[in-house]
Amino acid sequence: MSEELNQLNAGEIQRIREQFPILETRIGKNQLIYFDNAATSQKPDAVIKSIDSYYRSLNANIHRGAHYLADKGTAAFESAREKVRDFIGAKESCEVIFTSGTTAGINMIAAGLAQSWLRKGDEILLTEMEHHANIVPWQMACERSGAEIRVIPITDDGELDLEAAEKLITEKTRVLSLMHVSNAMGTINRVQGLIQKAKAFGALTVLDCAQSVAHFRLNVQELGPDFAVFSGHKLLGPTGTGILWGRKEVLENLPPFLGGGEMIKEVRFEKTTYNELPFRLEAGTPHIAGGIGLGAAIEWLTQQDQSLLENQEKVLLQRATDIIQSQPGLRIIGTSAQKVSVVSFVSDKAHPSDIGTLLDQQGIAVRTGHHCCQPLMRRFQVPGTVRISLAFYNTLEELDSFERSLARVMGMLG
Ligand code: ALA
Repeated sequence: MSEELNQLNAGEIQRIREQFPILETRIGKNQLIYFDNAATSQKPDAVIKSIDSYYRSLNANIHRGAHYLADKGTAAFESAREKVRDFIGAKESCEVIFTSGTTAGINMIAAGLAQSWLRKGDEILLTEMEHHANIVPWQMACERSGAEIRVIPITDDGELDLEAAEKLITEKTRVLSLMHVSNAMGTINRVQGLIQKAKAFGALTVLDCAQSVAHFRLNVQELGPDFAVFSGHKLLGPTGTGILWGRKEVLENLPPFLGGGEMIKEVRFEKTTYNELPFRLEAGTPHIAGGIGLGAAIEWLTQQDQSLLENQEKVLLQRATDIIQSQPGLRIIGTSAQKVSVVSFVSDKAHPSDIGTLLDQQGIAVRTGHHCCQPLMRRFQVPGTVRISLAFYNTLEELDSFERSLARVMGMLG
């Protein structure tokens, strides 16, 4: 890229950064450097204001009250649902279910399928890189249904072993559930072929988009799964929000995970009939402010120049990779050619948590540990990693500071 274009982009990124008030934080004499975006992203003013303004001027329970505020609140919440529908390329807004996050979404699917779809001897196919949230709910489903888990192995680069995957998908496979992007390594998985093959064998397919949705535009219809889930808080939105998307005909047959108000048509002690989608799967008062905040996050994001954001993350990934590779004694876990801006590494002389603690003392926020992926850590025979996960509002200057701090830290630990 030309120097001139670089300057221009740096100016644009600065303009974007200014909309994220938390990035101004100082920790002692250090400026905060936030490299933990895969855990949760920071929030722009537009999102913070939308939540504030909901509580100041719209607060009422939605869908049930026949008064001014209830109507306005309902319209704002439903408009957020429509923004999500458009953002992920879903066909109908009734296919968009508000949840509390990715974990809730997968639990809803796994519990529903344990009841209605899985039988003894059926196979649920996962991958070796899955987050615990895409393992444990399926183990619970196995306990209830007698189904069994099979695991797609990964290569030394941290990619799915597609040859092995092809062999593991058979007529016994009733569910394929896998992550689109690895939270621990950043690998972008090639999921479309696997989804198609699993569907051809009659399986239901679940795509965990928690780590992809913030990095590039995705279209659930093109990707082709039956279900997709993600969290709002990794997508500039509030914590406690998430989306479960499903193809209408599949969602219509998913038994509800929670029963209660809102999800019913008629309740009698003898028998209850359920409401239509999406309400059938949204029992109780939803996180109204959160849903509206998530809508604001999506609106803000879609107003930005997507190619600028993606390019910034690409430049940052390259620079971060170079920094780790040039520091003696460090090794990157996850070296796929197709990655989002996440770099996980281990040291041959220091524990990840010691590196993280010393970086924190210099104002640099990274995540250390197993990243809720213990089977993946076992695969690489490491106790955990240090993970830097970068967002479009991070800068090359921050990476320069990180490089100096990391060299100091490794010197101290050597
Ligand atoms: N799953 C989140 C992460 O990877 C919390 O940090």
